[in-house]
Amino acid sequence: MAVSIKNQDEIMKMRVAGRLGGEVLDYIGPFVKPGITTGELDRLCHDYMVNVQKTIPAPLNYAPPGHRPYPKSICTSVNHQICHGVPGEKTLKNGDILNIDITVIKDGYHGDTSRMFCVGDVAPHARRLCEVTYECMWAGIHQVKPGNRLGDIGSAIQKHAEKSGYSIVREYCGHGIGLNFHEEPQVLHYGNPGTGLTLLPGMIFTIEPMVNAGKAAIRHLGDGWTVVTKDHSLSAQWEHTVLVTDTGHEVLTLSAGSPPEIPA
Ligand code: MF3
Ligand code: CO
Ligand code: CO
Repeated sequence: MAVSIKNQDEIMKMRVAGRLGGEVLDYIGPFVKPGITTGELDRLCHDYMVNVQKTIPAPLNYAPPGHRPYPKSICTSVNHQICHGVPGEKTLKNGDILNIDITVIKDGYHGDTSRMFCVGDVAPHARRLCEVTYECMWAGIHQVKPGNRLGDIGSAIQKHAEKSGYSIVREYCGHGIGLNFHEEPQVLHYGNPGTGLTLLPGMIFTIEPMVNAGKAAIRHLGDGWTVVTKDHSLSAQWEHTVLVTDTGHEVLTLSAGSPPEIPA
């Protein structure tokens, strides 16, 4: 399957799905406090999506080839967990950092976005990892314009992470998105400028760098989903869904509570 170019009708639906995804993160932020469990965050988000937004939580029962069905409605990845952390009995404690990854389906179209949250007072080194990872995501987004190539995005992200002393996870990447949760192309968070697919107006994909404070190597937990750093170092991730426009880009998953954009 080739990379799809979305038409105006599809773009309008992706704008709605994207904003709704961001609004779930706006909603859940105030609940992220010491003492709450990741399972409770999942239930709150699930109920908000289904009952308030009338959206479908895309992760629930999602079963790509080689995976058991994902059992929850959101992903909650705490501290050394990189991504796809499965909500459950884990109680958040003061000083934790946490990624919450939301994907909603509205009118058939997917909006996929994640943010980092600090639980109570977080150590400066952990805060810095979250901030640099946010800058990495925006460094990638600023490369999104017609004529630029996927390698320009990956290179900008990798450079910013590595000059800060961090490493980029290689096994997971951004992805095309639309009627499907994961479509072509794969959007690597590392690479070389001037290489890879050339961007065209109407392409929509996510940029979602995973940045480790230590080494890049990963491990999988026995639950079949949770990905952690092999060296147990902290990991952070931010994600937006982005449209290539005629003149540059439009971030589709912005919402009222999104943190400020990092300027180019
Ligand atoms: N939202 C994740 C992404 O950014 C995918 C999660 S798949 C799940 O691509 F099954 F773990 F939810
Ligand atoms: Co994604
Ligand atoms: Co996501």
